[in-house]
Amino acid sequence: MAIEFGQRIRRIPSYPLAGGYDLGADVAMLASNESCFRPAAGVVEAAARALANAHRYPDPSYAPLRGALAERYGIPRERIALGNGSCDLLLAAGEALLEPGAEVVYAWPAFSVYPHLAAASGARAVTVALDDEDRHDLDAIADEITVATRLVLVCNPNNPTSTSVGIDAIAAFMERVPRHVCVILDEAYCEFALALGDTYASLELLHRWPNIVILRTFSKAYGLAGLRVGYALCGSEDFRAAVDQVRQPFYLNAAAQAAGAEALRHQDEVERRVTHVVAARAQLTDGLRELGLWVADSDANFIWTHLPEECVEADVLSGLAARRVLVRAGGSLGRERALRVTTGTDAENARFLAAIAELV
Ligand SMILES: Cc1ncc(COP(=O)(O)O)c(C=O)c1O
Repeated sequence: MAIEFGQRIRRIPSYPLAGGYDLGADVAMLASNESCFRPAAGVVEAAARALANAHRYPDPSYAPLRGALAERYGIPRERIALGNGSCDLLLAAGEALLEPGAEVVYAWPAFSVYPHLAAASGARAVTVALDDEDRHDLDAIADEITVATRLVLVCNPNNPTSTSVGIDAIAAFMERVPRHVCVILDEAYCEFALALGDTYASLELLHRWPNIVILRTFSKAYGLAGLRVGYALCGSEDFRAAVDQVRQPFYLNAAAQAAGAEALRHQDEVERRVTHVVAARAQLTDGLRELGLWVADSDANFIWTHLPEECVEADVLSGLAARRVLVRAGGSLGRERALRVTTGTDAENARFLAAIAELV
């Protein structure tokens, strides 16, 4: 007899994983919004030093990383949640806040992990269409908040569409959200979001609304996707306490903690990466627009383009793969006939542009 699993296992959608790991070297990996640059040498050394003590459990208070974040952002340590990637905090938030009868509201398409939260908890997912420029429609999201709403997810800049909405618009939105509803402002790409100002700009929201949580990651601008380090700056201590309660005690390994704390000391490196990404996204955007394609105004480390009517998305994807370029199909992210392309090195971007010119 087959093992009998819980009902929710059938409801939880599978995360659209990137392929191509078997293609060997010389592939332009533009499918997962990673950094094309390796971590700084000092960061690798810090992780290696932590590995030498791997016979011990990690520091369960996560003091060095929590302290470094507290100092950088001027937020008390008790209001900083850490996670095994920011995905870990998203899933923990779903577990802590949602249950059958509750609702979670978010725009769609947005980050592929969001549907998991409702499916795993039995809550109802309420999705709201993006506007004509593939940006969040915050008014429409606020209109969907009901007595059953426990959680609202706002992805800014939005993955997969790369667009952002201003902090003023988010503040106006927060005015409409009841104080008992948790709003997670997912800022995985905030370091690249020049339209939003610097990475301190959204922190003022924390001082005004205790129900907001700013979710961030070391996976993108800090280039530590393989180590899995995420954090949340919380408007109140309650969120941190709740997500810690639903998880195992050692959710962040020692090498990841050490690398994260060290990476914060290399802001010059982060700035260099951001400068590269800003130039690269302009290169990709201009190149695609010259081909006549619609491209969203990107504020992230990737771009989002709609394919012309006559194109078959799967053919474009396989044509790109045959030219050793991997990008993400819009169909797997919530919108058919679109592509999400991560910024790569200058050579990778040029390879993508040459390949796509042959295919559309
Ligand atoms: C919007 C958004 N949020 C969160 C994450 C999760 O990042 P990580 O778990 O690597 O911190 C991602 C990853 O792609 C993302 O795009």
